[in-house]
Amino acid sequence: MQLPQSIDAVQQMLDEQNYVCGRALATVVFLSLKLGRPLFLEGEAGVGKTEIAKALAAGLDRRLIRLQCYEGLDASSAVYEWNFAAQMIAIRTAEAAGGADRAALQAELFSDDFLVRRPLLQAMQPDEQGRAPVLLIDELDRTDEPFEAFLLEALSDFQVTIPELGTIKAAEPPIVILTSNRTREVHDALKRRCLYHWVDYPDFAREVDILNARAPAASDQLSREVVAFVQSLRTEDLFKKPGVAETIDWANCLLALDVVTLSPEVIADTLGAILKYQDDIARLQGSEAKRILDQAKASLEPV
Ligand SMILES: Nc1ncnc2c1ncn2[C@@H]1O[C@H](COP(=O)(O)OP(=O)(O)OP(=O)(O)O)[C@@H](O)[C@H]1O
Ligand SMILES: [Mg+2]
Repeated sequence: MQLPQSIDAVQQMLDEQNYVCGRALATVVFLSLKLGRPLFLEGEAGVGKTEIAKALAAGLDRRLIRLQCYEGLDASSAVYEWNFAAQMIAIRTAEAAGGADRAALQAELFSDDFLVRRPLLQAMQPDEQGRAPVLLIDELDRTDEPFEAFLLEALSDFQVTIPELGTIKAAEPPIVILTSNRTREVHDALKRRCLYHWVDYPDFAREVDILNARAPAASDQLSREVVAFVQSLRTEDLFKKPGVAETIDWANCLLALDVVTLSPEVIADTLGAILKYQDDIARLQGSEAKRILDQAKASLEPV
């Protein structure tokens, strides 16, 4: 599978994976593929940052390797570890067999067989057809700065040195996507290596398109009402605004309940699909849901 040769081709490829992608995002994806630069995506929760890496891997028919970041993630969990338990067993077995050759045992213990490849090391290996995978470094803002510095190194040359085995270098660097929810700023040095895009909430038309792609069973009318309501809701002062993921979840909940049109009662019963904080849910109690629904329905009326 060739890399897409134009922005339109990127859009079409993602579209085939049911990923609705605006022109700006398609452009930065195209450039990142063309120039071989990592793509750094920031945005609110549930707006499709992680999904784009999945769609890209599927569309390009590449392996997807995911490094999920978390506080305390260190280089050994990200690159490689030795399988300590298996090494211990091998030592015991050798001992039981009666004094094995120490040097041979040592070499065996630190061979490929006992190496546990973590995502960054996996990402340096092409598949059977020699194609580099898509490497998703997800939620980078959850790690700490030392790991970020380490990552900067890894992204600059895509090679790792394992003292016992030597240096491993990617023949073809992977396609790298980094995401962040911006719970903290990621360091400039890392950002400088990447192309950057802020993934915003989609506008009305695009969110309806996303719903058509991801919850196709919903009627046109229901989809439009759901999106209009969620879009209105995002303008309210909420602790946690609903993302696209919530819009899709909600539509599926309404479908499961055979709802054909939104009403304040239906909304009150299903709010848990779009709002995940009690304070936010409490805000929509009483006449608030009706007010937002009226506002949403008014926005749908033809002008
Ligand atoms: N543009 C889009 N086209 C199709 N589906 C989308 C789009 N944006 C979001 N989605 C849907 O929303 C869901 C959530 O998206 P995703 O997990 O990628 O969000 P995220 O930005 O990574 O959120 P978080 O910050 O919480 O990890 C996906 O499963 C996908 O179905
Ligand atoms: Mg995500």
